[in-house]
Amino acid sequence: MIILGLNAFHADSSAALVRDGRLIAAAEEERFRRIKHWAGFPSQAITYCLSEAGIKLSDVDYVAFNQDSRANLLRKITYFITKRPNINLMIRRLRNRRSRAGLPVLLEQAFPGQTIRAAIHPVEHHLAHLSSAFHVCPFDEAAVVSVDGFGDFSSAAWGVAAGNDISFYGRVYFPHSLGIFYQAITQYLGFPHYGDEYKVMGLAPYGRPSFLDTMRNIVRLVPDGGFELNLEFFRHHREDIPYQWMNGSPEFGDLFSPALEHLLGPRRAPTDRLEDRHNDIARSAQAMYEEAFFHLLGNLQQRSGFTDLALAGGCAMNSVANGKVRRNTPFRRVYVQSAAGDAGGAIGSAFAVWHKLGGKRNFVMDHAYWGPAFNAMEIQLHSGRC
Ligand SMILES: [Fe+2]
Repeated sequence: MIILGLNAFHADSSAALVRDGRLIAAAEEERFRRIKHWAGFPSQAITYCLSEAGIKLSDVDYVAFNQDSRANLLRKITYFITKRPNINLMIRRLRNRRSRAGLPVLLEQAFPGQTIRAAIHPVEHHLAHLSSAFHVCPFDEAAVVSVDGFGDFSSAAWGVAAGNDISFYGRVYFPHSLGIFYQAITQYLGFPHYGDEYKVMGLAPYGRPSFLDTMRNIVRLVPDGGFELNLEFFRHHREDIPYQWMNGSPEFGDLFSPALEHLLGPRRAPTDRLEDRHNDIARSAQAMYEEAFFHLLGNLQQRSGFTDLALAGGCAMNSVANGKVRRNTPFRRVYVQSAAGDAGGAIGSAFAVWHKLGGKRNFVMDHAYWGPAFNAMEIQLHSGRC
């Protein structure tokens, strides 16, 4: 059985190919287009995965896709009826849904003349994240956690997994999100590009957590292990924030409201000098993230009793927090999907479909080298030294 997994129409577009439950190839579209975090339809990554497997698109049995617009539908409808957000926000969401529905047409256009017989399987975003970690980790059973910005109307999901099955204990739904919190602080600190959060994580050790109490006004922990945002400090839930999500580098407008500047002082412009205050805010935001992350992990560990943990979701790229899991919780073994962000959704959706169709676990992803390789001669040729 051949399954092509995709993360498409989203940042870090990617493709992965799974044959009989084993990963054959995986790559991000940005590596071919040479535009960081490229968002859109990953035609070149698909071409690479097919060539690595020595097959054509017509040989693929299933296409798995890490978004399911029907997931959490009741919650979405209830939210839009009761909260009545900006009409442009709703129109944009419907337009995104249409672009995903056009997947078969895009495949036909990208691979003209090939008969596509594959059935398309949408996989709920966080199930794809959890599958990308658990179904390729060496544990037979584990606690599982996905934390990110948003996907399919939720920003975090956690539970337990054993064998083929993943069971959910809880979720955090739109508009609450630790990823949005971290991204908003990243923008506030003068790092405007998608994926700049690692700069704040790297800045944090230069400061003191002197704003941690202030951060606790922005992120609140809730008893089930989840968290909430104080929405006064954000715009994403009520305004149509401009963003560019198709065929290029993703761009975002400000996620934070003027109230954040009243709370923390004026924002830093990208060209401004980094001052001690900025370092302290970075450290405090990282500390707040860790407080919420370990609140979730602690609750989950107590409820599940498991000491093995599999992690994915964009926030699982926070290696500083990941490095403290064994110190701060009873978890003893930790598996982090190396493509923990949405690129790994291609791997996760493919494995989720494999297991949904009754496949057995027979693969451990113990390295991250699933993309194109080059020998020394090819590198010399490409660098123009030959
Ligand atoms: Fe995600």
